[in-house]
Amino acid sequence: MKPQVQPNKIVVLSGSGVSAESGLPTFRDAKGLWNSYSWQELASPEGWHRHPEAVLAFYNERRQKAWQAQPNAAHLAIASLESAYEVVIVTQNVDALHERAGSRNVVHLHGQLAYARGTSEPEPKRYRVDGDPIAMGQLCEDGTQLRPDIVWFGEAVQHFDEAEEHVATAARVLVVGTSLTVYPAASLVQYADRTAQKVLVALDMEEVPRGFTFLQGKAAEIVPALAAKWLSEVRVAE
Ligand code: APR
Repeated sequence: MKPQVQPNKIVVLSGSGVSAESGLPTFRDAKGLWNSYSWQELASPEGWHRHPEAVLAFYNERRQKAWQAQPNAAHLAIASLESAYEVVIVTQNVDALHERAGSRNVVHLHGQLAYARGTSEPEPKRYRVDGDPIAMGQLCEDGTQLRPDIVWFGEAVQHFDEAEEHVATAARVLVVGTSLTVYPAASLVQYADRTAQKVLVALDMEEVPRGFTFLQGKAAEIVPALAAKWLSEVRVAE
């Protein structure tokens, strides 16, 4: 049965571009992480097995920077929408800036820097580490080496079915700060309902998904204006 679109529901699909103006790097832009680091060596199970120390050092640095970063006007504007809408954020980001801005429903597809986990099966033990480093020799209660709770290339994303359901039932879908090049996250745009208002915000975009209005520019400049418009639409309707 086709999921029912909820008139008062907004889903935000966000990527690293929404945190760029908080000083955190994206991945594929000119100064993107994967232009200076190898994702094969630092963001894959194979790289972890080859040299876990280098992987821990890479994520310890990212965790510290993310912990020190502050939400920007785009994060805050998205959080402000909760005053009139049901808002769900489905993010590829591993920082906690949406939550820090006050957003209450955040689904992380690619894990979170603020958590570490063991490698025991079937259910690895998970621990909150906030901005603290993970060291070699730090073990979970099952005696396995702790690793960042991040989804690496080749690993299954988290909460995908839930994310798909949210996108399919939204009356408004905002895609912000993602190049939509990494799957299955990028496929979520296809679940947006035909009747939904669909907006994409990015500095540049090779191919804008069908049905989306492309607003080119910085998230911290464009998203607050869009949020103000959506909030005014509710007030008019009341
Ligand atoms: N405002 C809005 N958009 C921006 C800004 C900004 N200030 N800065 C950059 N962007 C846009 C770029 O135009 C680009 O479309 O953000 C996007 C960043 O794309 P990527 O670097 O590919 O990052 P992302 O889409 O988040 O990557 C997806 O890839 O490496 C993996 O797991 C990692 O979650 C990540 C996934």
